[in-house]
Amino acid sequence: MKHETLEKNSILLLVCILILVSIGGIVQIAPLFWVESTIEKVRGMRPYTPLEQAGRDIYLREGCYTCHSQMIRTLRDEVERYGHYSLAAESMYDHPFQWGSKRTGPDLARVGGKYSDQWHAEHMINPRAVVPESIMPGYPFLATTPLNSADIGARMAALRIAGVPYTDDMIKNAVADLKAQINPDSRPARELLKRYPKAKVAKFDGRPGEVSELDALIAYLQMLGTLVDFTAFDASGPNLR
Ligand code: HEC
Repeated sequence: MKHETLEKNSILLLVCILILVSIGGIVQIAPLFWVESTIEKVRGMRPYTPLEQAGRDIYLREGCYTCHSQMIRTLRDEVERYGHYSLAAESMYDHPFQWGSKRTGPDLARVGGKYSDQWHAEHMINPRAVVPESIMPGYPFLATTPLNSADIGARMAALRIAGVPYTDDMIKNAVADLKAQINPDSRPARELLKRYPKAKVAKFDGRPGEVSELDALIAYLQMLGTLVDFTAFDASGPNLR
């Protein structure tokens, strides 16, 4: 009989359905915020260097995500083409993440180290110079635009609020570290490597002088997918940080 009242009163039925569905939702979603294994621990993940982070900001600004994804799915064709499927931990410092939803161009999650810096520089300036059939737009202005690095420390401080473990030391040295990453074999570069292990230090765009937006973008691309140590990753068991 009680059920009849419910079935004859659509508003009441709707409210009860909503309550029921939200309980189901909470049961499924809430534990993810507390369970230890939501993001598996992996060796090698570190916050991005100031130059990589600046490159990431350019990646967002230019809308590269409208044509490129950064998430290799656990399907055989994906893994054979791009490499190990993406781990949650690999985007743990991405705010916002760049998984993407469309691939006009290929996935970029593991593009780091696939090409030389020079290839990237030529490709970004004019994709047709290295891939004749490419439909990707060129971004020649990046090479001639000096990178605005004045606020990088403030941006890192903002990311820290979102959960990226930047230390006071990293934020204080942000501008110096940013410039050091295009100065191989210098003392500031060694300092940078102490703070950000395995960072690639190189003259990314190949041009002497000031840090350009292209330097930052290439530094970011060359880091993608190179941080996690897959020799120490075991998909079936607990992993060490
Ligand atoms: C209109 C769609 C489009 C946009 C926007 C776009 N790309 Fe591409 N991208 C492509 C296509 C198509 C290819 C494959 C052909 C080629 O290599 O040029 C590609 C290839 C690439 C590759 C080589 C990948 C590989 O594994 O061979 C990189 C790196 C890349 N893009 C970076 C970028 C970056 C960085 C941006 C933003 C500044 C960007 N792309 C914007 C379509 C796009």
